[in-house]
Amino acid sequence: MNRKSGLLLLAAATLASPTFAQNKAKVKVAKSTVIVNKSQMDVFIDNLMKKMTLEEKIGQLNLVTPGGAVTGSVVSSDVDNKIKRGEVGGLFGITGAAKIRKAQEIAVNNSRLKIPLIFGLDVIHGHRTIFPIPLGLSCSWDIPMIQQSAQVAAKEATADGLAWVFSPMVDISRDPRWGRISEGSGEDPYLGSEIAKAMIKGYQGDDLSKNNTVMACVKHFALYGAAEAGRDYNSTDMSRIQMFQNFLPPYKAAVDAGVGSVMTSFNEVDGVPATANKWLMTDLLRKQWGFKGMVVTDYTAINEMIDHGLGDLQQVSAESLKAGVDMDMVGEGFLTTLQKSLKEGKVTVQQIENACRNILEAKYKLGLFDDPYRYCDEKRAGDIFTAENRAAARDYATRSAVLLKNDNVLPLKKSGSIALVGPLANNHNNMLGTWSVSGDFVNTVSVLQGIQNVAGNVKINYAKGANISDDPEFAKKVNAFMTEIEIDKRPAQEMIDEAVAAAQKSDVVVAVLGESANMSGEASSMSNIDLQPSQKRLLDALKKTGKPIVIVLMNGRPMTIAEEHQKTNAILDVWFSGTEAGNAVADLLFGDKIPSGKLTATFPMNVGQIPIYYNHKNTGRPYVKGGPTKFKSNYLDISNDPLYEFGYGLSYTTFKYSPVTLSAKNMTKTGSIKASVTLSNTGNYDAEEVVQLYIRDMAGSVARPVKELKGFQKVFLKKGESKEISFTITEEQLKFFNTELKYVSEPGAFKVFIGTSSATTNEADFVLN
Ligand code: BGC
Repeated sequence: MNRKSGLLLLAAATLASPTFAQNKAKVKVAKSTVIVNKSQMDVFIDNLMKKMTLEEKIGQLNLVTPGGAVTGSVVSSDVDNKIKRGEVGGLFGITGAAKIRKAQEIAVNNSRLKIPLIFGLDVIHGHRTIFPIPLGLSCSWDIPMIQQSAQVAAKEATADGLAWVFSPMVDISRDPRWGRISEGSGEDPYLGSEIAKAMIKGYQGDDLSKNNTVMACVKHFALYGAAEAGRDYNSTDMSRIQMFQNFLPPYKAAVDAGVGSVMTSFNEVDGVPATANKWLMTDLLRKQWGFKGMVVTDYTAINEMIDHGLGDLQQVSAESLKAGVDMDMVGEGFLTTLQKSLKEGKVTVQQIENACRNILEAKYKLGLFDDPYRYCDEKRAGDIFTAENRAAARDYATRSAVLLKNDNVLPLKKSGSIALVGPLANNHNNMLGTWSVSGDFVNTVSVLQGIQNVAGNVKINYAKGANISDDPEFAKKVNAFMTEIEIDKRPAQEMIDEAVAAAQKSDVVVAVLGESANMSGEASSMSNIDLQPSQKRLLDALKKTGKPIVIVLMNGRPMTIAEEHQKTNAILDVWFSGTEAGNAVADLLFGDKIPSGKLTATFPMNVGQIPIYYNHKNTGRPYVKGGPTKFKSNYLDISNDPLYEFGYGLSYTTFKYSPVTLSAKNMTKTGSIKASVTLSNTGNYDAEEVVQLYIRDMAGSVARPVKELKGFQKVFLKKGESKEISFTITEEQLKFFNTELKYVSEPGAFKVFIGTSSATTNEADFVLN
């Protein structure tokens, strides 16, 4: 069980109550077609809505969760009676085909119009089989793999009764203090957009009504990742150019890929909270981008606008509806105030009907009017947590890890002895990472188990060595859902001594260090992103043994680990890698798999550098490499360079890039240029490399970034092999948003970079005529 276990237990109790007893009466609902034909859908919904009372229409806008407080303070009550009265459109927070069938039966058998409910859940990085956290998955830069991960999650979720997932989270973030950076794909709008599209395709497939596809929900619209000071739920404030250029593209990509639903965000956008922001949800989302699906709020986001200072519940509910919200998550502002607002002329029937229609359309597309139990097939239990899905989880985890440092210690030999130390080395509770509500930590593979599985002949000298944190107050906050930080009864020094003794009798030290699962994630902002002092002390003691040290880092955000970089021989960042964590870590440590991940969020040297991101502007007084220099844009006390830049990641092999060659030096707006390099695997292992293409626009009508990712390819090369890698550059990659927010290219000089990370200087020039 993990973070929402309380909720699931309560839900089970509710649904087992007599009011939920199975009713075998034949369900009579109107027929819809499986492949959606717009006019048939319209006719069907027109007919249905003619029969609906105003109360029933408002009821469809109500999304409830039938149990304990999840991420907000409000809880739904009396859920079964509300369903019978037609006051509920959807439900989230329960799983299980049988349980969901029972809840659906209440709607279908006991409500006047028998309108089926839609069942959703936070399926974020896998459902029962948990994959690496999204930030980790993004570091694979493996788009087909990411798509497949969503497809596997959809298959498990639908076998478990669900039709709707609150994913993907595509919020761009440049601030690792923000805990939810773990749930997204990092800092880059281009990569973020590619991943957003892949996730939508993976979840929704080509037909929403299939029983193994789910409706996706792109979130949190919009700009949530730019929370000031990295403090969760805080205000955001940015220029429109910044929004359009760097923060909005992944949401737009999800809309273009046909995402069925959008979730609002908690923060303000241009001074108005997103949930009541008409410009955002109507003018931009629906009118400009052509979104046709349904908009749901985040958890009690309407009610929270009272605290934002936008008025009372009636006022903020009316504003949300008018702005374009269709469904109210948990807060019941719509349910309790819209009738009054209608009477008082504050909202119109049309606005209520539009919202109701969007929700009914989603249900229609999911095939729920054809068969309300489409996703309640208990015979599909065998699709969940299969050996195949676990194998996929192991594979994804190996592809998501990033090798940050390696002084020739890795891969390890499958012989000799290892001191396996650290609070996360023999740990199950933290392997799944944040937002893994349906994963069960009991089924996870610890690193200790993984090493035993993969390198059975290695002598393992295990010692915990340190607690994740020694601070009981901090641990109490982090352990809100379960014990992630377990403070050992032994004194800290005794644990360190034990680890040192283990190190002394071993050939190499593998220290599994980092955060606990929910030290990142929602409501987990940190002002200090160093390793906890308890772990630093352990590392210092280990260092004195003189043994080579490998850190296996588990984390949900970039951390400030410059000291650890200095003190150790290798660092393998495995994020929180899910159900198969330990096996995947061992595959990598012993070289059965070769690391190929690349960072998608910059690791700063210290928190003072934040916000930090590779695609920054040059400024009028550009930083000089090797600075600081007086009167330049830099700090006096530190260089501008990050510890590890965007796109960085090592391999056990080495790759060599030839200089960039261009097929031409000039390009017209309708033409293209081919940019190529020869990539050679010059090391000793067959391996994959993420070849990255960046472009710099040398002069424009607005200041342009020093580099922008515009393409990438994940390439496999056998040792000794060379291959020509080419990218086609067209006008599309040269466009940007100008001061009128028009997406244009401007003639002039450009630089093309192809290399192994965003720091590459392997460049060539061309001119757009
Ligand atoms: C989170 C969302 C999540 C929702 C429902 C909120 O607190 O911000 O990401 O989907 O809860 O669980």
